Amino acid sequence: MIRIALIPGDGIGPDVLREARRVLDAVAAAGLAELSFEEFPHGADHYLATGETLGESTFVSLRDDFDAILLGAVGDPRVPDNRHARDILLGLRFRLDLFINFRPARLRSPRLSPLAGADRPVDFVIFRENTEGMYSGAGGTIRAGTPNEVAVSECFATHFGVERIVRAAFEYAQHTGRTRVTLGDKANAIPHVYGLWRRVFDQVAEEYPDIESEKRYVDALVMDLVRRPERFSVIVTDNLLGDILSDLAAELVGGMGLAPSANYNPDGGALYEPVHGSAPELVGTGTANPMGAILSAALLLEHAGATDASARVDAAVDAALDAGVETADLGGTSTTEEVGEWIAGRIAEDL
Ligand code: NAI
Ligand code: MG
Repeated sequence: MIRIALIPGDGIGPDVLREARRVLDAVAAAGLAELSFEEFPHGADHYLATGETLGESTFVSLRDDFDAILLGAVGDPRVPDNRHARDILLGLRFRLDLFINFRPARLRSPRLSPLAGADRPVDFVIFRENTEGMYSGAGGTIRAGTPNEVAVSECFATHFGVERIVRAAFEYAQHTGRTRVTLGDKANAIPHVYGLWRRVFDQVAEEYPDIESEKRYVDALVMDLVRRPERFSVIVTDNLLGDILSDLAAELVGGMGLAPSANYNPDGGALYEPVHGSAPELVGTGTANPMGAILSAALLLEHAGATDASARVDAAVDAALDAGVETADLGGTSTTEEVGEWIAGRIAEDL
């Protein structure tokens, strides 16, 4: 039994998560996996009504009572400082020590690529460090609001933190038959933090002699990702660079509506979510693409050991794209619900 906590969240989060749930229900009905669900109300409405972002007892329950969390999106214009979103999303990533942010980028059809001459097999994954770097919140401001204001945000890396994400990337490469791991950094301009990354990367790479390793400055790396994305296989990088690289990666293979992600710790704890945010402007239009959320559910199934179920969901998404059952962001005319129903129906049919 895979115990799943659902946090639909804000904006289009509930719309896309409803379809992911529909697909997971089809997976369970087809006997491909045993699943249980519990839904949590946390998000902007809950915060505005109760003042609670993510309480301690909720956190403990999410940590102890579930195998995985599936989240829609958080972020709401009524909470301008995004406090609830930070507590929920960054809070879970940090407090559950979900140090791996895993973002696959596979081109499912040449027509989804924004690049000319796109008939190339783009298929790489990004391992983004999720707990360190620029996102710790360390820093401060002095003389705020004056022309002499000074602002500092600290970027930090630890040997421990870098080693475990680099090792995760190489382990993944080894287990999946991928033959190259690329480090993205900026050691030429930021020598302390990225110097540590380079040294640790080289140390770990030595343990995997069958896997080619390469270190690339991130500015050259983004150029190459656009010029010849087909040469990349596994990319490992830090929190900030990974945030930026993975959005570029998403665009290279069909856009935000299609991109899934996993945040996890191999020793336990996992949160799956589409890469996109709450897209408040799409609420109520029925045009939010649910495929990112559905593919995040597929990652959840895969990591929980239901690999056949995961492959079936993935294939059903491919089939929907082949049939043109897709939302407007991909050029289609289907609604969020029609896409979810079609994919769920496909899983039932495939038996
Ligand atoms: P966004 O991802 O919500 O939207 C970016 C663009 O992509 C918009 O044009 C939107 O219409 C489009 N888009 C997003 N998801 C889509 C989908 N499923 N189907 C079709 N089109 C889609 O990012 P934005 O606008 O920067 O942020 C909106 C809110 O979401 C903010 O409050 C932000 O803080 C929050 N956010 C939350 C994230 C999360 O929960 N992981 C990640 C990014 C932003
Ligand atoms: Mg991002």
